[in-house]
Amino acid sequence: MNFPGREESTGGVMDDKIAFRTNSWDKEDKELDRSLRPAGFDEFCGQQKVVSNLKVFVEAARMRGEALDHVLLHGPPGLGKTTLANIIANELGVNLRLTSGPVLDKPGDLAGILTNLEKNDVLFIDEIHRLSPVVEEYLYSAMEDYTIDILIDKGPSARSVQLTLNPFTLVGATTRSGLLTSPLRARFGITCHLEYYNADILTGIIERAAHILRMPIIQVAAVEIASRSRGTPRIANALLRRVRDFAQVKGDGTITLEITRYALDALNIDKHGLDEMDNRILRTIIEKFRGGPVGLSTIATAVGEDPGTIEEVYEPFLIKEGYIKRTPRGREVTGIAYANLGLNRYKDPDFLF
Ligand SMILES: Nc1ncnc2c1ncn2[C@@H]1O[C@H](COP(=O)(O)OP(=O)(O)OP(=O)(O)O)[C@@H](O)[C@H]1O
Ligand SMILES: [Mg+2]
Repeated sequence: MNFPGREESTGGVMDDKIAFRTNSWDKEDKELDRSLRPAGFDEFCGQQKVVSNLKVFVEAARMRGEALDHVLLHGPPGLGKTTLANIIANELGVNLRLTSGPVLDKPGDLAGILTNLEKNDVLFIDEIHRLSPVVEEYLYSAMEDYTIDILIDKGPSARSVQLTLNPFTLVGATTRSGLLTSPLRARFGITCHLEYYNADILTGIIERAAHILRMPIIQVAAVEIASRSRGTPRIANALLRRVRDFAQVKGDGTITLEITRYALDALNIDKHGLDEMDNRILRTIIEKFRGGPVGLSTIATAVGEDPGTIEEVYEPFLIKEGYIKRTPRGREVTGIAYANLGLNRYKDPDFLF
């Protein structure tokens, strides 16, 4: 959920609370991450529908020499929202300014950024659902007709002046689209939902990363890593790097199936790619609520996590993989969840419901 440096500030000409970054933020990023991040649509695997639509919109905006309409990217962490924002700016041939919702706490912070945008630039606001209401309202006129009101002077001579901004594209990213207010959502002309990746595409992403990092990898090993990556490229890349360590220390540097299984077991990666919180949620529903149905907020309290995070970060994958189903009376685990945890719902009377 974090990309390096996300909430740091670069200071610069602006209030130093503002994480105000250009494409060069990657310089501070780990070299590896930078080399793996796709730079153009052609390197970005999967999300076919989203990518093919964006390609058309970007091409059309470029042909007209206009700013691309505002884009909202939503979906679970690690699926490529920040990557796509970078790609959009690259493909448009404009600068990318990067900031995030929680660091913009005053309208003045935003005004500083907006007035520094050049024509058709992309402003990326990560975690846009965490903008404060005053900043959000301030954004409305900027998005709609590229103007903002700023207050000059104080006391009796205070007056508001309207500034016209350069046309720009706002790219907003969020893992929690449900928390976006409807006026903000309505101001995005393009909305893209990113889905979890299937194992084939993840295998391709792993092979591409291995190639860039010059790691010899056997195809079945890439498939194995892909199947344990929770449908998420960020996890796939991270696991690949860990497996490489094992291949170098315990093997001859080649990533084989044997080394991969050994490494992933040593790292406690569930063979279905579920992480600790996924398993905790399933175990809690089974052990404390007899498999459900149980309400979301009750589950959240029992596992000590925010209900919204469970709903938008963990649950979609668990539902997609068939571990949980949503019913009108709440969440219920399925037989697959019992099997995954090595439990038998019919043998142990506690699990009968
Ligand atoms: N489609 C893809 N093809 C290849 N690599 C990808 C793809 N999507 C993401 N990645 C890789 O996964 C990493 C994580 O992606 P990214 O930072 O864009 O995710 P995010 O959706 O912004 O996550 P968060 O919600 O946590 O900010 C990137 O560094 C990139 O290397
Ligand atoms: Mg991101």
